[in-house]
Amino acid sequence: MSLLQSLRLCLVTRTGSCQAAPLLQPPQPWHTFHAGPWLASSSSSKELLMKLRRKTGYSFVNCKKALETCGGDLKEAESWLHKQAQKEGWSKAAKLHGRKTKEGLIGLLQEGNTTVLVEVNCETDFVSKNSKFQQLVQQVAIGTLLHCQNLKDQLSTYSKGFLNSSELSELQAGPNTESFLKDQLALAIGNLGENMILKRAAWVKVPSGFYVGSYVHGVVHSPSLHNLVLGKYGALVVCEASEWKANLQDLGRRLGQHVVGMAPLSVGSLDDEPGGEAETKMLAQPYLLDPSITLGQYVQPQGVSVVDFVRFECGEGEEAAEAE
Ligand SMILES: *[C@@H]1O[C@H](CO)[C@@H](O)[C@H](O)[C@H]1NC(C)=O
Ligand SMILES: *[C@@H]1O[C@H](CO)[C@@H](O)[C@H](O)[C@H]1NC(C)=O
Repeated sequence: MSLLQSLRLCLVTRTGSCQAAPLLQPPQPWHTFHAGPWLASSSSSKELLMKLRRKTGYSFVNCKKALETCGGDLKEAESWLHKQAQKEGWSKAAKLHGRKTKEGLIGLLQEGNTTVLVEVNCETDFVSKNSKFQQLVQQVAIGTLLHCQNLKDQLSTYSKGFLNSSELSELQAGPNTESFLKDQLALAIGNLGENMILKRAAWVKVPSGFYVGSYVHGVVHSPSLHNLVLGKYGALVVCEASEWKANLQDLGRRLGQHVVGMAPLSVGSLDDEPGGEAETKMLAQPYLLDPSITLGQYVQPQGVSVVDFVRFECGEGEEAAEAE
């Protein structure tokens, strides 16, 4: 089924997204248990090992090595493990650098008047379903949100910005951490053994009088990630509305759905001649859910004007890069 067909079949649900198949749990590499001589030596060291493993989630083998290296000091062993993982992550990242990354996820995060859309890529769809990969997407979304919230507000109009791969790498991974997104990226590469890239991020911040509609298609369920929505396509639509209307949220989702399906390149104007399926000006495009009218004809009577939008499609641009 084509994207358009599936979008048209898809009702606007509470999360604004089509439901996808439940998350597959890939096998965790952590469960190998190798009991060595150190383990057998005493029950107290065994307890220490269990404690370290519970606390850090690293494998028994690594936890045992850490305790051996640090003479049984739990705290030192823990920081040794983190350093080791980071080191392994960097060397793995260097080894896998350049391998094709056309899978991955789009993440959408909305908080107050700030909305961010991010894309993180990996090599296979299988890895994109791993919770460790999804946590990385969450860190990128939160890092972008914090970055954007720290920028000075322009109170009169909306603002929009983009971050590229290298800019994302240098962002802090969260509010209370000294770790950067590039460190988290290396850790995830080390953990999952695939090349990954922090592809891009977009953010929009709006003052009152504006509203950001959003939509994610091909939603992947991730119960532990709070209000982050993950999927394969994402869109933000910035609207100006003179007054708050109850239907604004629903309208915003439909506009986002249109942007995902019809992939406009510009907003255009209400004066534009109605175009056909190949039209790239959003307001002149046939409306996705009722092609007998244009999108402009759909929004105008609702007292809302579309001023801007962002559309991310996971992996887009990779095919073009491959063809070069
Ligand atoms: C990312 O953006 C910065 C600042 O705009 C620019 O200097 C840099 O070359 C860009 N990097 C890539 C990989 O495009
Ligand atoms: C966003 O909302 C916060 C809190 O409601 C407000 O202080 C801030 O001025 C708003 N930003 C913009 C750009 O309107």
